[in-house]
Amino acid sequence: MPGSPIRKLAALAEGRKKSGIHVYHLNIGQPDLPTAPKVLDVIHSYAEKTIAYAPSNGLPRPLTAWKRYLDHCGIHFDEHELIITTGGSEAIIFAICAVCDTDSEVIVFEPTYANYIGFAGIAHVKVRAIPTSIENGFHLPPEAEIERFITDRTRAILFCNPANPTGTIYSKEELQRLVNLAQKHGLFLLSDDAYREFAYDAHVVSIEDFPEVRDRTILLDSCSKRFNVCGVRIGLLASHNQDVIATVLKFGQARLSVATIEQLAMVPLLEDPETYTKPLVEEFRKRRDAVCEGLKSIPGVTYYKPEGAFYITIGLPVKDSEHFSKWLIEEYEDHQETILLAPAQGFYATRGKGMNEVRLAFMLKIDDLKRSLVILKNALEVYRDKFMK
Ligand SMILES: Cc1ncc(COP(=O)(O)O)c(C=O)c1O
Repeated sequence: MPGSPIRKLAALAEGRKKSGIHVYHLNIGQPDLPTAPKVLDVIHSYAEKTIAYAPSNGLPRPLTAWKRYLDHCGIHFDEHELIITTGGSEAIIFAICAVCDTDSEVIVFEPTYANYIGFAGIAHVKVRAIPTSIENGFHLPPEAEIERFITDRTRAILFCNPANPTGTIYSKEELQRLVNLAQKHGLFLLSDDAYREFAYDAHVVSIEDFPEVRDRTILLDSCSKRFNVCGVRIGLLASHNQDVIATVLKFGQARLSVATIEQLAMVPLLEDPETYTKPLVEEFRKRRDAVCEGLKSIPGVTYYKPEGAFYITIGLPVKDSEHFSKWLIEEYEDHQETILLAPAQGFYATRGKGMNEVRLAFMLKIDDLKRSLVILKNALEVYRDKFMK
């Protein structure tokens, strides 16, 4: 079971802050803006005398709100095809458990959302990681290349669109490759749509736009990022495949229910999504542009323009980005300030990959992002003189 690569250096950062150094956090994907007051209104006005268990598939009003939200996105499910989960995380775990046996294989594209590796580990499922590369913005390889990784144990392809940690948005044609392979090899497509609204340059095509795999898709969703409510822990699993839903419901019954008040707190947001998502997405678009602009002036850095989400994985002119990141947080300072990065090794299932890459998350105001990139530039010069001469 791998430890979280993102949280690894965070403890060191806390120590450094105590010694008076300001740390800019570029490491974790939690929006820094305030949560909509409506969420807190629902929580404060909860009037029942008992906070009871909810039904295992979700409370009726939140289920209806989820259905309406998805309809609004052009994605159509009946309410009995939905199961509310404790975050998108639980939806992913349930989906893997529902379609795999122990020792089955699930295909992911690396760099990948690191917890996919951990979730597969919980289910005793093996991750087969297909490489993608920074040179083409981490887009998918050709169909034949993906097919090489399919074995008789492969049960599913798990992908995130827009993607974490790369911000890549897969085109319709790229998704068609996965659809073709799912049909040819009898695989499930597990589509993680946690960042659906965070699309800047490209339209996000849903896996639901491919009716030919209607029975083979499982949609995994989350309120965390789009509504800026990471701590409420509300997500969703949706599938037209009734066997999948019946199995997932059994997992749901085993964990009893999802937090009652938090399910209700999401209703106003799900019923009127754009009011909440639009300003957030516009803010992140500006930040994405500021980061790309700032990276331009750093010698030796490799990057592309991420089309969505709020991450970018960049190549640095260092041999070991984990060593560089640790040095930044333990030793380096620029006018009593430093930065906390997420070394990309943890986003690779294949040992030895991503050694010179880091992920940046755009969780700071634009001026702070700009300042962080200046610190990165200055630090790289010092690091090179110190360790790479
Ligand atoms: C790609 C992806 N999927 C799922 C999740 C989990 O989200 P949740 O907070 O809903 O569990 C995250 C969180 O960072 C993520 O980046």
